[in-house]
Amino acid sequence: MAKLLAANWKLNPTSIKEAEKLFLAASRVTRSRKNVEILICPPSPFIDRLNASNIESKVKLGAQDCFWEEKGAYTGEVSAPMLKKLGASYVITGHSERRRYKQETDEMISKKVEAALKSGLKVILCVGESLTVRAKGLPEAEKFVADQLAKDLAGLPRKEKSAIIIAYEPIWAIGTGRAAKPKDAVKMAKKITDLTGAQVLYGGSTDSNNLEDFIQHKEIYGALVGGASIKAEEFKKMIKIIQKYV
Ligand code: PGA
Repeated sequence: MAKLLAANWKLNPTSIKEAEKLFLAASRVTRSRKNVEILICPPSPFIDRLNASNIESKVKLGAQDCFWEEKGAYTGEVSAPMLKKLGASYVITGHSERRRYKQETDEMISKKVEAALKSGLKVILCVGESLTVRAKGLPEAEKFVADQLAKDLAGLPRKEKSAIIIAYEPIWAIGTGRAAKPKDAVKMAKKITDLTGAQVLYGGSTDSNNLEDFIQHKEIYGALVGGASIKAEEFKKMIKIIQKYV
């Protein structure tokens, strides 16, 4: 079973020195395996520094967001080709924190997905329902996620959809210590793959204690990890666990 363990560092750590320490820790336990990828998505100013550092590493680098235009009068934005040139091979799009704090709409996310694919970056598209939606039951949550997918991947042919990785991240599980039930995540992952052909990561309060509960299922391609990924020892444990599955 091929697997992917992706770290979303968010706006952490605060210095390149700490970033290098975390990257080095992960690199030390990451083996070169055909079927398992370890990915770290640091804040974008660190991508280049980690890529160019002399740390011997099999860990891939990715970005946490990109803009949809390649150039022009767009103050503050960073384009997908720029990230690619810095050393990113993946980009996360549509994370719920960006949907919430930056008011990113499905229409904007869909443009970002297309721009990222065009530049040759692999895309991890985040979807997931709120607690209010989840409280109405799993079928409602599935409907919500299906609707997000339809909008975020609008216009993409099935072949391109299936090349995208979807991270199912229920908002109520992110950073709360309350991960989804693995059996519910599996159901959702299956639904997402049926709709898109894409492989599915689970994200939301994963750590070394519960990672295996998710990745042991063939429907779940791996995990998108936030909080636990900026704790060096914890993330090392997670890398070792996922490397056992291939
Ligand atoms: P968490 O974050 O692991 O801290 O819940 C996951 C994410 O936001 O991608």
